[in-house]
Amino acid sequence: MANLQEKKQREQWGSRLGFVLAASGSAIGLGNLWKFPYMAGENGGGAFVLIYLVLLVIVGFTLMLAELTLGRYTQLNAIGAYKKVREKWAWVGALGVLAGFMILAFYSVVGGWVINYVFKAVTGAFNTTDMGVLGGMFGSMITNPIEPLIFHAIFMALTLGIVIGGVKNGIEKYAKILMPALFIMLLIIMVRSLTLPGAMEGVRFFLAPDFSKITGAVVLAALGQVFFSLSLGMGCMITYGSYISKDEDLLQSSLAVPLLDTGAALIAGLAILPAVFAFGFDPAGGPGLVFITLPAVFSQLPLGGLFGVAFFILVLFAALTSAISLLEVVVAYVVDEWKWTRKKATFIIAGIIFALGVPASLSIGPWSEFHILPGKGVFDTLDFVASQILLPVGGILLSIFLGWVLGMDNAIKEATNDGKLRFPLAGTWSILIKYVAPIAITVVFVKGLLDAFGITF
Ligand code: PHE
Repeated sequence: MANLQEKKQREQWGSRLGFVLAASGSAIGLGNLWKFPYMAGENGGGAFVLIYLVLLVIVGFTLMLAELTLGRYTQLNAIGAYKKVREKWAWVGALGVLAGFMILAFYSVVGGWVINYVFKAVTGAFNTTDMGVLGGMFGSMITNPIEPLIFHAIFMALTLGIVIGGVKNGIEKYAKILMPALFIMLLIIMVRSLTLPGAMEGVRFFLAPDFSKITGAVVLAALGQVFFSLSLGMGCMITYGSYISKDEDLLQSSLAVPLLDTGAALIAGLAILPAVFAFGFDPAGGPGLVFITLPAVFSQLPLGGLFGVAFFILVLFAALTSAISLLEVVVAYVVDEWKWTRKKATFIIAGIIFALGVPASLSIGPWSEFHILPGKGVFDTLDFVASQILLPVGGILLSIFLGWVLGMDNAIKEATNDGKLRFPLAGTWSILIKYVAPIAITVVFVKGLLDAFGITF
């Protein structure tokens, strides 16, 4: 049964466009539209963006190709892939499954906020530029003890429905239309934001790096964001790579997906931060930044109400195509390793992830005084541990595995379709995987953790 399903999925991504859409669907999501702008806002703006771009080049492209290559080489899920090459490495895949589990728990809570905002937009609640009013609206939404849980449940149910129903085929068809639509709407919002009075201050904040803002913790945050946004470090792209046919061009895909993803993040940043400054809001406003600022921009657009509805529906779609990839990684593991049926696995896992999301949601509202790590409640702890610990560690181990266990000769052979494709940067890629990526990630990781917890030498 599981095999049949796998075969079916492998056939689905026969075309390169189909695969690039699916992989970009996983990559582009709340990480770009919600997290990137507020992380940039909290971590010094341009300094964060610059470090993000540097790490994207050193680590992002490099590991994207690494995961896709390992996936296609083994034709297996995250854990199976490690296991097939070297039995003892299976736990690295398991670490990724754990990360996916934790990420989806808080991701679904935010997905719930998005659904809630679709309804708010429908009722015309956005008709103001008053940050006090819009901030109050967001604040009362997330601090309500019950309402966010209902929307979190709806988001999880939608994700579960798609993963069980196997309507991925349909999703890809929609994605061809909806993803470009999302880009176009983001561009319109960006132009409107950039032409607001006072917007240039936001552009400067977002693009001009202030090097005094760079600390180990900021660099680690940017690194975590690269992993999170590209869906790297947890085996998601290994799983997706396993569905690519042997004559596809992995090299092109590993360029296209990160470029599209980064394009989406930068446009989202330029749509949001200029408006933050134009309306006199605080760039370090945190997770509410997008939800509080964009409604004010919509109120400044003709037919803004309608625009807002369409926009949040597209954000929801982008979030769902990421959420299904998170759930898939966990489900694929349980189906393969524990021999559960797909249906049973999906229901039980989605249920447990929903349950973990409940304290995450409450930790933003009624339980905000309760901290797990210093200054961090359940929601922030899940995000921090997954994005800034598990994903980077997963990246270090992945590059060591590819460079030193599987070996770069095998990897390059797979990435070039047995030498049929030209790969002028193969030597550079080898050095990046074997030395630069693992060392760079380790340095950033150790220094960042020490900084984040205030330990100095
Ligand atoms: N990349 C997704 C986003 O930016 C989130 C994600 C992380 C999805 C890890 C899969 C794996 O929204």
